[in-house]
Amino acid sequence: MKRWTNQILFALLGIAFTTGWLAFFYDSAPSRWSLIVHATSGYAIVALTPWKSVIARRGIRRRRPGWWLSLALTVSVITSILAGIVHSTGLLLAVGDVSAMEVHVGAALVAVPLAVWHLAARWIPVRAVDLSRRNLLRTGAVMAAAAATYASTEGLMRLLPLPGAQRRLTGSYELGSLQADALPVTQWLFDSVPVVDSGTWRLELRAGGLRRWTYAELLAFDDRLRATLDCTGGFYSVQDWSGVWLSRLLPSGVSGSSMHVRSITGYDRRFPLREASQLLLATRLGGVPLQPGHGFPVRVIAPGRRGYWWVKWVTAITVDDLPAWWQLPFPVQ
Ligand code: HEM
Ligand code: HEM
Repeated sequence: MKRWTNQILFALLGIAFTTGWLAFFYDSAPSRWSLIVHATSGYAIVALTPWKSVIARRGIRRRRPGWWLSLALTVSVITSILAGIVHSTGLLLAVGDVSAMEVHVGAALVAVPLAVWHLAARWIPVRAVDLSRRNLLRTGAVMAAAAATYASTEGLMRLLPLPGAQRRLTGSYELGSLQADALPVTQWLFDSVPVVDSGTWRLELRAGGLRRWTYAELLAFDDRLRATLDCTGGFYSVQDWSGVWLSRLLPSGVSGSSMHVRSITGYDRRFPLREASQLLLATRLGGVPLQPGHGFPVRVIAPGRRGYWWVKWVTAITVDDLPAWWQLPFPVQ
């Protein structure tokens, strides 16, 4: 039982981590499919607690070097699971400015180095007997129980009903839709809101040649778009944006594969060039110029893409021949 428990935990942690990130990658059905597997692996980890706690108690008594790191791992995994459940059910969505989803992902990130250490320090080599029929049956039973738990929490949330019944397929909750003032301000990790002087600011567009657009020139456009901003922090908001379709700023017949969009903060994302007609460079939210926190003077509106694609405080756009996938799947700076 001991070897099996640890090996299954190993697989489950890997699945939970991978499917969590995969869900952040999509704004559509694959996000939900990924989250069904994600929640099931999370509940399966919970289901193994009775067996793992026997192993853990014995291990703690032996006081092997670094046993307290294993305790830190336990605390971070439990924190992540609890925050995941309070988020999904909607029982507690935020404490102050910190959302349950941020705690959930933050605790999971803290768990990664601890889990790597734990595996290296407590590794037991896999043997042929580990793949016995009995172990496979046990694994099947744990996974079935976990999937049933996921299905029943979803059903129960609709019956009661709990706020979780209202969340989007990405797991995010509606917040302040069509009320520009109620749109929360979020930015990538440690970026702070830059103050931009719109008189001297220029959008440097390199597509063939270089063209510098002034704020006044961009403000003259009034292309409109209603779009859903679904933030990986756990909320989404439908808002009316206006500005200019990126394709209208590009010279006709421009050639290249992708567009590199850079913010004043250094934050950047790369989009396929063929998407230029679906990306709005917004100067207004709800009919009035953007607030600094929402990306003043200009931000990207990328419908169908999660919030981390909606680059704020845009300062440069470059069309080149690099493929659109030539970037990290998630921004790190
Ligand atoms: C949810 C993830 C996990 C948590 C929270 C966890 C927690 C713990 C704790 C608290 C201990 C006792 C302290 C110690 O000996 O350091 C321990 C021991 C141990 N763990 Fe884990 N663990 C996890 C996953 C794993 C995995 C994936 C493996 C192996 C593939 C593993 C293998 C072991 C082994 C071999 C021991 C030593 C038991 C002994 O010395 O008697 N653990 N674990
Ligand atoms: C230690 C690793 C992790 C574990 C054990 C874990 C476990 C869980 C659990 C138990 C839930 C509640 C599921 C439900 O009741 O529907 C959940 C929700 C969620 N997790 Fe994780 N998680 C982990 C890491 C991550 C990571 C790294 C991400 C993203 C980068 C992530 C994204 C999500 C999302 C988006 C939800 C909301 C799902 C929904 O509302 O349906 N998780 N997680």
